[in-house]
Amino acid sequence: MSNANVYPPSAEFSAQAYVPSLEAYRALYDKAKENPEEFWGALAREQLHWFEPFDQVFEWNPPFVKWFSGGKTNASYNCLDRHLSTARKNKVAILWEGEPGDQRMISYQELHRLVCRFANVLKARGLQAGDRAIIYMPMVPELPVAMLACARLGITHSVVFGGFSAEALKARIQDLEAQIVITADGGWRRGREIRLKDAVDEALRECPSVRDCIVYKRTGGHVQMQAGRDFWWHELEESASETCPATPLDSEHPLFVLYTSGTTGKPKGILHTTAGYLLQTTMTMKWVFDLKEEDTYWCTADIGWVTGHSYIVYGPLSAGATTLMYEGAPDYPAFDRFWRIVEKYRVNIFYTSPTAIRALLRQGDHWPNQHDLSSLRLLGSVGEPINPAAWEWYHRVIGKGRCPIVDTWWQTETGAILIAPMPGAVPLKPGSGTLPMPGILPEIVDLDGKPVGENKEGFLVIQRPWPSMLRTIWRDPQRYKEQYWGKVSGVYFTGDAARRDSDGYYWILGRVDDVMNVSGHRLSTMEVESALVRHPAVAEAAVVGKPHEITGQAVCCFVTLKKGDYDHEALGKELRQWVAHEIGAFARPEEIRFTEALPKTRSGKIMRRLLREIVTSHTVTGDVTTLEDMGVITKLAAQHDED
Ligand code: WT7
Repeated sequence: MSNANVYPPSAEFSAQAYVPSLEAYRALYDKAKENPEEFWGALAREQLHWFEPFDQVFEWNPPFVKWFSGGKTNASYNCLDRHLSTARKNKVAILWEGEPGDQRMISYQELHRLVCRFANVLKARGLQAGDRAIIYMPMVPELPVAMLACARLGITHSVVFGGFSAEALKARIQDLEAQIVITADGGWRRGREIRLKDAVDEALRECPSVRDCIVYKRTGGHVQMQAGRDFWWHELEESASETCPATPLDSEHPLFVLYTSGTTGKPKGILHTTAGYLLQTTMTMKWVFDLKEEDTYWCTADIGWVTGHSYIVYGPLSAGATTLMYEGAPDYPAFDRFWRIVEKYRVNIFYTSPTAIRALLRQGDHWPNQHDLSSLRLLGSVGEPINPAAWEWYHRVIGKGRCPIVDTWWQTETGAILIAPMPGAVPLKPGSGTLPMPGILPEIVDLDGKPVGENKEGFLVIQRPWPSMLRTIWRDPQRYKEQYWGKVSGVYFTGDAARRDSDGYYWILGRVDDVMNVSGHRLSTMEVESALVRHPAVAEAAVVGKPHEITGQAVCCFVTLKKGDYDHEALGKELRQWVAHEIGAFARPEEIRFTEALPKTRSGKIMRRLLREIVTSHTVTGDVTTLEDMGVITKLAAQHDED
């Protein structure tokens, strides 16, 4: 191994792991590479329930792929029904803790009942396969119940993160032309109620496709119910039967759409389908998380993001796991909430983000040290590169030097983890996602598609389609084609820069496009810019990500104003609030800088690269020959030196 800081798996961990050695990993990897049809075909038959067998493993008509054509299956059936005839029937499926401290333990059998009842509610409202449901809920068990009820009937769901504003919610409902919105009165966050139904009311003023809105009562806060449109979940459910067979659906039936930020102001609806998605999320639960029957597994993400879809709901439930769900904030009521939960439920596998790790690290070791964390056996990280200092702390203070850390690289589009260590097999290097999963053929190339070679920085691309790959962008196949398959010919373009070291390990270096990563959440610079220019005082805006100690990047905005007299301090505050209102609180800019002009090319394009340099290094070193007015740049850079 070429790096001094290498952590091989312990003999003890390897001995019990699914994939116990580097040789075993290589054998699996080579098998998948040489004969993907046989590899994935055998896994699909063995790991999933089929109502009707598939007749083809995959059909690749670049850039469109189909997996397991001809087969009929159902994600909800695979996550629930098939466990009921096994010892899992009374096993806890969802272990839930609300922020106020309330708790629920829902067995597979009980979850199945809840899902069937709610599916019957949806049926009674006239919904059927092919319809679309928007789910805008707090982190309560009824959120996965709603997802699995949709999946049971073939209703495509789109979960919108509860932190998104009414504006953002409206755009998603409209793009999806959803027939129904499933929501709650609100949820708890840092002791305060996040009012969800109010946001739905605001959004629904301009959403003619929506016929019904079902409201789950979580907080008991006052909500406005519109007669004929709004219904209480508990009232509709009262008379619903507990029997609801899962509909056999095509392998390629659309399971969900999840919106994510692209390089334009308009979010992309990433479409995932049924069988391939479920197979790969199930397999990675075993390969990466080494999930065992007796494990208590906790992923701290919100189900509103892909991590929650794949690794709180579909992957864990399909694999028959006990999946823990926590409603609230990591620092409420104190900085030891995560560690308190780990101790209380004897969590074995813990999966979180570098942002959370850095934020908790800063509060000092006494918080985790107050708790018995000895149940932990494996730790995970996702969302952005984890810096070695945070990695070492996570390893030493949380894992007590005993637990492997799986740094998992993937994207909303990839559906499942593509690059990550198999913890019993692969020696770890802090900061590297290590090696690709079976069936994944990454490469690091230049813009002509030529491999750049060892230790050189280039674009990370994936050479072959994989089962949980996105199928298209909702109602925009052209954008799908251009965005993912049009940048470098013939391969999937990830939008990340990376390098590969002499051991074949991948090191992700960050995005190469105008996408920021704030606390592991993807945010487009254009989306924030469009929000800003909707404000009456703003003439123009340019937004860049600025390095931030805890959140990875922070939103930094350069704004020019329309003619007038402004109180810059008050306006700065107002604009930060404005963006939070237009997109969601997580997008609130850290900084608004007022400027007289923005640096532009002769053709009028804003040179974000220069702005990025200003906020990163406070100087400009790159090529500025296309810059129209160099004066603008020197002034901006100088301005920074003044503050
Ligand atoms: C982008 C995808 C996948 C779930 C969470 C984010 C970055 C993600 C890692 C990692 C380095 C990572 C990439 C990627 N990213 N995981 N382990 N190491 N970077 O999903 O919002 O679709 O964002 O997050 O830049 O492209 P997403």
